Amino acid sequence: MALDRILIVDDEDLIRWSLQQKLTNWGYHPLEAADGTTAIELAEAESPDVILLDVQLPDKNGLEVLRAVRETNPRVVVIIMTAYGVLEDAVAALRLGAYDFVSKPLNFEELRSTIQNALEALKLRQEVKRFRERDRKRFSFDNIIGESESIQEAVHLMKKIAASPATTILFQGESGTGKDLFAKAIHYHSSRGERPFLAINCAAIPENLVESELFGYEKGAFTDARQQKKGILELADGGTLLLDEIGEMPFGLQAKLLRVLEDQSFKRVGGVQDVRVDVRVIASSNRDLKKMIEAETFRRDLFYRLNVITISLPPLRERGHDVPLLCRHFIDQYNNTFGKAITGLTPAAASRLASYNWPGNIRELKNLIERAMILEDGPEIGADALPIDITDTATPASDVELPELSIPVSGTSLERVEEELIRQALSRTGGNQTRAAKLLDISRDALRYKMKKFQLQESGAH
Ligand SMILES: Nc1ncnc2c1ncn2[C@@H]1O[C@H](COP(=O)(O)OP(=O)(O)OP(=O)(O)O)[C@@H](O)[C@H]1O
Ligand SMILES: [Mg+2]
Repeated sequence: MALDRILIVDDEDLIRWSLQQKLTNWGYHPLEAADGTTAIELAEAESPDVILLDVQLPDKNGLEVLRAVRETNPRVVVIIMTAYGVLEDAVAALRLGAYDFVSKPLNFEELRSTIQNALEALKLRQEVKRFRERDRKRFSFDNIIGESESIQEAVHLMKKIAASPATTILFQGESGTGKDLFAKAIHYHSSRGERPFLAINCAAIPENLVESELFGYEKGAFTDARQQKKGILELADGGTLLLDEIGEMPFGLQAKLLRVLEDQSFKRVGGVQDVRVDVRVIASSNRDLKKMIEAETFRRDLFYRLNVITISLPPLRERGHDVPLLCRHFIDQYNNTFGKAITGLTPAAASRLASYNWPGNIRELKNLIERAMILEDGPEIGADALPIDITDTATPASDVELPELSIPVSGTSLERVEEELIRQALSRTGGNQTRAAKLLDISRDALRYKMKKFQLQESGAH
């Protein structure tokens, strides 16, 4: 959308006329108002992007007009035109939310660049807003998939927490169980959602840098500190800070963090003044913090402060029912991204995924679906498109020559062939399911599934 509608507000005909000429030449679409009342009406009816506003108007003071238009159209950028030397008006206008001011008599080049800057700022603001909107959708609770009780409980709890403004939260769970996703969902659904969400991974930053990353530093705090720098806590003011892998935070720093949590204030490195911030801290850890307390590598007091609300995200292998739901979700998602129309998984592929133990949890599942959807040419994801190590029992059989097979003239049923091969595998291994599964290069669970499907007897032997 082009940002080019500019409302000129001035009671002097000549000024309006010359501005109108200039703006048109510069490629904008000017509108005009000769008094405050008309200006307010036009600002509402036409929602211009920029208003060039004279301070002295016959019916109203420009500042009144400014206040009124910002109320009906908060995104509009107002540039004040003041008489040369009357700085009080300009200062008051800036306080009321004007973007900038230019003085009269007008210097058109100056005015032109002020307008350009204003529109640039407006564009940025709109982009930030669009990103926030996109993130709000992306991290909506609806996109947290899972019907297992543990996930449902976690979501229920999170909705409550999101509504409360400042509670500290601790997420515990293995890598890839959704700690980041959940933290973002809380942020974007809290009253802080318009403010920044920032994250720092305590394991990824060298120990000696964590402190200055968190708290910032003053000029001269150390050799390289040429100027003051804000830390991530200050940058996240009003928003949410995720401290990822909090278990890796240096022991000495843990006490300082505790103080931030207790009274929302801290000192920059090398600083003497307290900096106050309003930040919700969400901590996450894939290590067992209680064990770390016993080993004296994590502070007990910090743990209890963080532990006000703890959400444990169970590993995917403990919520097997969610695997097909998540598959469906990611297939839809990648169909969108890749412009494909994959309908689902073949039963063989599904049963392999159902019996896998997912050490990388949902991240692994997501990556696996992505990879399979790139590889798969058919309408469904088949077992061939899955990585070979997805079942611990499978040995690759692809390099073994298949025996001569030919379809009888009268035709056959693929399922019957499958059933027959399973029978043969079981009889050859004396009913040992593990070995039979290996012979067929499928998982034991997949074998069991098929045996049930074909109503083959389970013999006692394994
Ligand atoms: N319940 C869920 N529904 C849908 N997607 C999920 C769910 N849980 C996790 N994901 C997705 O799985 C991926 C990994 O999740 P996330 O990054 O939140 O894990 P994590 O617990 O922070 O891992 P790590 O400990 O490695 O940082 C992300 O792409 C996330 O969107
Ligand atoms: Mg994470």
